[in-house]
Amino acid sequence: MKVSVVAHPQFVVADIDPRLYGSFIEHLGRAVYTGIYEPDHGTADQSGMRRDVIDLVKELDVPIVRYPGGNFVSAYNWEDGVGPKEERPVRLDLAWHTSESNEVGLHEFADWCVSANTEMMLAVNLGSRGLDEARNLLEYANHPGGSEWSDKRIANGRKEPFDVKLWCLGNEMDGPWQIGHKTADEYGRLAHETAKAMRAFDSSLELVVCGSSNAKMPTYPEWEATVLDHTYNEVDYISLHMYFDNHANDVGNYLAMNQKLDDYIMSVAGVIDYIKAKKRSSRQVYISFDEWNVWYHSKEQDKKTLAGADGWPFAPPLLEDIYTFEDVLQVGLILNTFIRRSHVVRIACLAQLVNVIAPIMTAPNGPAWRQTIFYPFLFASRYGRGKALDLKVKSPTYKSDTAGEVSCLDVSAVHDEEGGFVSFFVVNRSDKEMEAEFDVAAFGSASSIVDHQVMTHADLKAVNTETNMDNVAPKKADTATLSDGRLSATCAPYSYQMVRIKV
Ligand code: AHR
Repeated sequence: MKVSVVAHPQFVVADIDPRLYGSFIEHLGRAVYTGIYEPDHGTADQSGMRRDVIDLVKELDVPIVRYPGGNFVSAYNWEDGVGPKEERPVRLDLAWHTSESNEVGLHEFADWCVSANTEMMLAVNLGSRGLDEARNLLEYANHPGGSEWSDKRIANGRKEPFDVKLWCLGNEMDGPWQIGHKTADEYGRLAHETAKAMRAFDSSLELVVCGSSNAKMPTYPEWEATVLDHTYNEVDYISLHMYFDNHANDVGNYLAMNQKLDDYIMSVAGVIDYIKAKKRSSRQVYISFDEWNVWYHSKEQDKKTLAGADGWPFAPPLLEDIYTFEDVLQVGLILNTFIRRSHVVRIACLAQLVNVIAPIMTAPNGPAWRQTIFYPFLFASRYGRGKALDLKVKSPTYKSDTAGEVSCLDVSAVHDEEGGFVSFFVVNRSDKEMEAEFDVAAFGSASSIVDHQVMTHADLKAVNTETNMDNVAPKKADTATLSDGRLSATCAPYSYQMVRIKV
């Protein structure tokens, strides 16, 4: 079956914000303890951070990491995580029914971010706490000195401010499971007043207000309209979350789900426009899609801990989804959607980064390895920076129950004007082979293929494990051809590929 794709340097969606390739670390399960932090590990640095994990995070080139939650933040006292470690309290974490030692807090995480070549996106607790704690944390983190909270930071060993620019005003406040859950009006008022106070300290901060936890919430999309009505002129982004599952074990429907994601994004973009017009506002609010991933493999296994059957364990394995080859395709499709909608989705965070629904896994006292989904994220993060192209794609389609008619071949492309590259990210979500032809003549005739990576597997359920780490991995290919401005590639059934050409 044939697919035709036309790319042109003047058909541009947007300049991609590199923070589209952000991620997330929550105090949950083994994300922090035995994930990024394990003082007794053979690779641990002076601060107890695992260097093998840092290397893998650097490989992914993640520009921002959201911290410290997630549901965890809604009952978190940030003060517990600063000061001498031996004086830090052990707390019960009500979100995940575990114990939190507070060995890692703001200072340790900030240092880790420097080592991992990334920046903090910090969330304040608007569940059990409010405006006062948020402004104190901001003063502690960002004020140079000479005030109570900034002097405490200095006394705790950090002279220079952390200078955190991007702040989340709580987490999933629409969810009844959230500690301190609120109605849209209650949350909207609180978020507005908190944003106002934070801006009074520094008007250049970037603030993210909570949107819906997913598009199935009964309050969606009225939640977005009400919350933005309260906050529109004080915030920069509205946060959305979505997780994908193949509980039904139906690959065709599973791989059509990014169409649902697209609908969700565009509906919220419509709500943003509506409130912008209502307020006669000249400012533009964008979407921060700060939690997304496949999440379902571990759900049954987690039920015991979450129900309290294990008591209050420290850093138990939780949400440890082991990803399949099929999930490679899903993650590729989600990233394609974000690239195509990068004019409204400016920030996105793969949830999460290590051990907890994550591209990187670790064994305590053992190795770290790449899960299957590591790779599509790696290629998008590395080569998906520049201008997202508005492609014209003609592809055969198939009918799904999840999202109606979807194209067999799903494609996005990014033009790195400075480097002179165009990268195509191609997912064949059908069981048919596709012959794809890309018309790239508008980029000039002297183009050549500089990289071609392909992921296929005979078993859609294939996984990477500690003893078989490279079972699912990309292979460099030389099957694509480029001549007379036409790039041709054969796309095997259920395959992912990245083709990068010099222009
Ligand atoms: O990422 C796991 C959890 O999913 C987060 O804590 C929460 O925000 C969401 O429901």
